[in-house]
Amino acid sequence: MPVYTIRPSLSLRGEVTVNTSKNAVLPIMAAALLCNTPVTLREVPELTDVDSMARVLSACGAKVEKSGRELTISVRQLLSPRDAAVMRRLRASVLVLGPLCARTGEAEVPLPGGCAIGQRPIDIHLRGLKAMGAEAAQENNLAVARGRLTGGSIYLDFPSVGATENLVMAASLAHGVTRIENAAKEPEIIDLCDFLIRCGARILGAGTGTIVIDGVRQLNGTEYTPIPDRIEAGTLACAAALTEGSILLSGARSDHLRALLFKLRESGVLVQEDARGLCLRGRARRAVDVRTLSYPGFPTDLQAPMMTVCCKAKGQSVFLETIFENRYMHAVSLCRMGADIRTEGRMAVVNGGQPLYGCTVEATDLRAGAALMLAGMIAEGQTELVDEAGHIDRGYERLDQKLAQLGADIEISDGKPR
Ligand code: UD1
Repeated sequence: MPVYTIRPSLSLRGEVTVNTSKNAVLPIMAAALLCNTPVTLREVPELTDVDSMARVLSACGAKVEKSGRELTISVRQLLSPRDAAVMRRLRASVLVLGPLCARTGEAEVPLPGGCAIGQRPIDIHLRGLKAMGAEAAQENNLAVARGRLTGGSIYLDFPSVGATENLVMAASLAHGVTRIENAAKEPEIIDLCDFLIRCGARILGAGTGTIVIDGVRQLNGTEYTPIPDRIEAGTLACAAALTEGSILLSGARSDHLRALLFKLRESGVLVQEDARGLCLRGRARRAVDVRTLSYPGFPTDLQAPMMTVCCKAKGQSVFLETIFENRYMHAVSLCRMGADIRTEGRMAVVNGGQPLYGCTVEATDLRAGAALMLAGMIAEGQTELVDEAGHIDRGYERLDQKLAQLGADIEISDGKPR
């Protein structure tokens, strides 16, 4: 069980390189199930979610080989995964549903798990598959999809990232043309489509609200390097905004971080974009309001780290979480540390500028854990961040080390060599 001991850090300085994106790598791993020949992914981050997804693919009959930061996935015979425990390890396990159904005409997949930040149903995934001619339903803790997929016209009730990914993958091998309206526009969707196009798929409109996929008979594997992780970059940018420092986030894509950078600038941080990445100087001084939205709006995954920033900035910030219904668990721990935050349903009001004090807090989910690590950096005294379930390692590759590289005082103890 990782326990992070965090002491105050007055300023962060230096350069760190941003990893490839967890949320791009996981769907691309699922998409490898669509390919007749091996897929090689490069620069894959060391994350437990990636390991869990590799297990999910193995449970589907794929062979997954890891060599350093390279992952090779090859498929001989596909089958529906039976191991519910493996599937429950992460939300992205549901992304094998579309590929399995598209290739075998039958998929029975134990329901996914993931961070407990809301109900997270899969009705939009299932309705989309039905519109492509499948019989799709949730039965006895299984997501089931059967039938030969044909092109269809799909309107998504909500631009769900996962549903868009599942349906684009399924449609790539369906017979005929599929049109997905109100599709998610996240950069990870574009990356998945770029990967599929490299494998031979015919997709237009990725990154817009309407994606059109002309199904092909087969896809062939390719080598691919996914995009940089905008959430890791954004978390490190929030860390910089807490201290009077100057950091370079090498490889960060500022075009993927518009909403966060707009807010950081509004709060007084100096942000410079150049060919190497992103430079951040100075700290957040003014309160800002944050409303999470689908891309290109403010990402829900950065709501928690941004709340820590608003605890430091002077004045009142109002947060509105519109994506997940239960994503303020970090607020409870921040209050234990001395923050003044009131939550009411999807709204949180932060009265920033109160001193924070170190104490023992728990990482209740992935991004909440990151937010508390940042809070420890500006708290007086020592913070013990207990991550019993290992949430932080699921989505950040040694976040503590990256922050320490910039000058933060963070130690980890878990009894395991790292
Ligand atoms: C992905 C990201 C996650 C991010 C989220 C929103 C990955 C692996 N995870 O999760 O980090 O926080 O996008 O940007 O990429 N919904 C339904 N029915 C459905 C599907 C979704 O009601 O069938 C609802 C969800 O409960 C949630 C909202 O839609 O309230 C957004 O979910 P979605 O966009 O699907 O997020 P994920 O793909 O799970």
